[in-house]
Amino acid sequence: MLSEKRGAGGKGVQNKEMEANEYKMIQSFLSQSCGIVLGDSKQYLVKNRLAGLLQTFDLASFAELAVALQAKSAAYTKIKNAVVDAMTTNETFWFRDDMQFSELKDRVFPEIFEKKLGTIKVWSAACSSGQEPYTISMCAEDANKKMGQTRNVQIIGTDISETILLEAKDAVYTEMALARGLDSETKKRFFQKTHGGYKLNNEITRKVRFQQFNLLKPFSVLGRFDIIFCRNVLIYFSDEVKRDILSRMESSLEPGGYIFLSSTESMPVSVKGLEAVRGRRVHYFKKRLCHR
Ligand SMILES: C[S@@+](CC[C@H](N)C(=O)[O-])C[C@H]1O[C@@H](n2cnc3c(N)ncnc32)[C@H](O)[C@@H]1O
Repeated sequence: MLSEKRGAGGKGVQNKEMEANEYKMIQSFLSQSCGIVLGDSKQYLVKNRLAGLLQTFDLASFAELAVALQAKSAAYTKIKNAVVDAMTTNETFWFRDDMQFSELKDRVFPEIFEKKLGTIKVWSAACSSGQEPYTISMCAEDANKKMGQTRNVQIIGTDISETILLEAKDAVYTEMALARGLDSETKKRFFQKTHGGYKLNNEITRKVRFQQFNLLKPFSVLGRFDIIFCRNVLIYFSDEVKRDILSRMESSLEPGGYIFLSSTESMPVSVKGLEAVRGRRVHYFKKRLCHR
């Protein structure tokens, strides 16, 4: 997973050595600050990913970087954020796991529209550059259209990376980014060509807002949700952190609400109060109306 991302920095920095104790300090920073668990075999990869930051922040060695990551002062926030950015993977695309979005559009939204009065709230946790929350917004648009309704759906996209959220808020995508998951009809329907690429229409963007948020922090500041998408992020975390996040998500969900994980992930048995829903070639999870 971690091998997909950006390379190292300028000349010379690749030659800096990373000692075992420095690697351990970086491992410990990543697991404590954002939950990412790196095995002992990833030292070369980490060195490659972080080498460019030595130059950017004028650090002489990985030892200096490791010390900066342990520092409490706010002066080091930029370095810490840059390390998290460099070590996370932002891979995403439109209608990823498309059967999940068919279920959302054809079953989940119609059921919630029927049962709930007022605004429907959706959380795209770890939303990267916005394709996931915007795909949800397109599905909400279609569900409303199909049911002849104008229900208010509010989607919040959160991610730990402020840099990637700037791209998400911008909502302008290259031709290549659009080609990943969008058919030509959807592209024509929801995007306008602009100088930097293709801008997503206001009817889709206005339902979505973005907020920087670390999944290790308490969720209460975000409120409660009818639907949560938490896909392709838990794979980086330990089983313990994954269980904790999912059980707190279950608490943030309204009774009868739904959680979508990525198609390869399962719900730990210790997360009570959810039942698996079998859809058409997909499964997802529903919060029971009452449990204990
Ligand atoms: C592979 S992308 C998944 C994007 C989207 N959910 C999807 O499935 O297409 C993983 C995202 O998780 C974010 N991430 C990693 N650790 C995080 C944390 N502790 N809190 C919030 N977001 C995190 C990364 O910045 C990255 O954008």
